[in-house]
Formats: sequence, structure tokens, C-alpha cells
Amino acid sequence: MNDSRTPVVRNEPAEGGSPTAGMLALAERIAAGGGSGRHDEVQHIRHVPASVYTDPAHWAREKTALFDRMPQVIAPSALLPGPGMAVPHDATGRPLLVTRDRQGKVHVFLNVCRHRGTRLVEGTEVQCAGRLVCPYHAWTYRLDGALIALPRPDTFPELDKNDFGLVELPSRETGGLIWFSPAEEADFTHAEALGEDFDALGMAEHVLYRRRTHRVAGNWKLIMDAFLESYHVTRLHSQTIGAFFKDGITAGDLIGPHQRSAVGRAEDLIDPAAMDMAAMRRHITFAYQLLPATVIVPSPDYFNILVLMPRSESETVVEDFMLIPEEPQTDKARAHWEKSWNLLDGGVFAAEDFRAAELGQQGLSSGAITQLSLGTLETGIHRFHETLEGILRASN
Ligand code: FES
Ligand SMILES: [Fe+2]
Repeated sequence: MNDSRTPVVRNEPAEGGSPTAGMLALAERIAAGGGSGRHDEVQHIRHVPASVYTDPAHWAREKTALFDRMPQVIAPSALLPGPGMAVPHDATGRPLLVTRDRQGKVHVFLNVCRHRGTRLVEGTEVQCAGRLVCPYHAWTYRLDGALIALPRPDTFPELDKNDFGLVELPSRETGGLIWFSPAEEADFTHAEALGEDFDALGMAEHVLYRRRTHRVAGNWKLIMDAFLESYHVTRLHSQTIGAFFKDGITAGDLIGPHQRSAVGRAEDLIDPAAMDMAAMRRHITFAYQLLPATVIVPSPDYFNILVLMPRSESETVVEDFMLIPEEPQTDKARAHWEKSWNLLDGGVFAAEDFRAAELGQQGLSSGAITQLSLGTLETGIHRFHETLEGILRASN
């Protein structure tokens, strides 16, 4: 799927395809009993300095090298399911406007009028609109950013409307995700590569069920860490989803700098090669930890997409989107999805994973320990921090 697609009306249930070669390879490793990382890796205790979570100067370096520079996910495609839709987006700290134009192409703009800099679209909700009219003097833009009209054009002699389109940032839609880059030079190669797995999972054909913004009083990496190891799953989540998983039956690999992991569910896994995607998802939960800070969790029959937007070294805004295969048609279907939403968003994420991140921040900011220790079920965390360190080093 690429950025020129025209979305269709999403009334067909999403089916997905066959697992990709990479997914199958992880499934084979799970079937063989799992491992705690790449099998070529020496297994020993690793460490991460506590200061990377607590030092404001470290956060400033991360902001410059990662969040002000790298391609990053902003939302699932399902947030703007049809042509002629727009949504203001402020949580990255920039006033952004995400649109899908009449041709179905996604754009990410600065939500700022080119006349005198007024915020163009107010609020935070998705709007269906053929055009965007500035509230101040009614300069009018198309959803592809073009300035198409202004009142009293005779008072702007020599103004060429072509020079006054909305300021656009690089963006790409692939695999059911909308990516953008705050920097002009943007390389979406790895986003495209990830799109192959998400296409295989049928993510782009799913519809948005719910979205919710969480404010977590913890460093963004403490949240990522919780999605990079399976050590906690049967413990922190013992009251929610822990019983669905086998303890420590896990495998992981990399797609570019991004991580893909697989955790064995409680059912026995016999022959991954003989499985279609639906069967595979009943036996294994895949998860994707995308740089800089997005987590994709495909449960057996729905998706959660967590977009982390750090505001400081100790505060993170997380937007959780839940995607389902089709619009619920019955009360029974609605009750089913509501239960899943409450279990994951409110239970597993907010009350358990995000809570653990907050407790981590409280503990680490005391200065009681100078480094965190990672066992062999937590190598994904070490790999993530090594990748970040490499990017920070290269940007200095
Ligand atoms: S500031 Fe937008 S029309 Fe004047
Ligand atoms: Fe968790």
C-alpha cells in the first residue's frame, strides 16, 4: 500500500493474508521452545544507566535526535477512513493537521494559516470537510493544502496563491499507518518494510473502534521497555491477560532499527508453516516496537496502536487506538469490543504497564540505583537502548 491509494468504504471484514517470511521465522522459533533474543547472542546480564530516564539533558538530546528528526507514526489510517477528512493533532508539541484529500492521499501540515499565522482548524476531533476556512479572514484551503480563495483578492496585489499553500511535512501512508517526519529529509524505507507485515495482518482494512489519550508520569522509554520484554507478562498482568501466555516463550528480531517480537500464547503451537494468519494469531501474539516510540499489538482479532509522545523526561502522552475488523452491527458485537477495549486500554495498559512506568520513574528519580539490570528475557530492552544510543551518538 502506498501514499497514493484511494481508500475504499470499509464495510468488508478485514481478512489479512499469509504470515510474512519474518513472522514465520519467529513462529518457528516459538514452536521450538522460544528463546530470549537472537540465537547468535551471548546470554548474560545487561545494564542500562538510570540517568537515561531521569536526566533532563538526556531528554533534550533525544528530542533533537529522535523526535525532531525521525520519521514517526502519528495515527492509524483508520483515523481518516475516507477522502475529505481532517483532524488537528497537537500532542507531538507541534500544531499539526492531518488530512486525507479528495483523491485519498494523506497529508500532514502545520495547522497554521499562511496569511497572519492563525491556527487554522480548532479542536481535536475528526472533521469531514471539502475545504478549510480560516476563522479570521476566511482564507480558504483545499485538503491538499492549496490556497484556493481569499476575500477581497484585489487588496493583495501580486499575490500568487501557489506560493501560499499550507506548510507541509513529509508523510507516508503504509500498512495502515500514517507516518510523518518533522525534518525535510525523510527516509520512509523502513516504514515501507514494516508495512509488509501490517498488510499481511490486514491492518489497513480495519476500522477505528476507540481512541484515548493517556498522560503517564513516566519517561517514554519506561513505557517502551514494558513492550520489549515478556518477563513481566504472567506477573504484572496476572489479573488480566497473564494466563493467556506461556512464561518466557518468546522470540524477536529487527526490521531496520525497529523490533518485532512474538510471544507464545497458552495454546500449543504445532506447525507454524501450516497455519493461516488467523490461526497464527491465536497461537502467537506479535508485537512491533517502532522507533522512536510506537507500539503495535495485534491481538487475535483486533489491534492496539500506542503512539507515545514525550513531553519531558518524566511525562509522556500516549494515544491508544483500537482497530477492529468491521463496524459492530449488533449489541452483542458492541459489548464484545467494549470488553476488549476496557481489558486492554484501561486494564492492561493504563492500570498495569503505564502504572509500572510511573512506579519506575518514582523509583529511579530517587537516585537509589545508578543502573537497571536486565536478564536474558529482557534483551529486547537492551537492544532498543543500544539503537537509541547509536542514533544519539551519530547526531552529535
Ligand atoms: S489569519 Fe487566516 S485568514 Fe487571516
Ligand atoms: Fe505488559
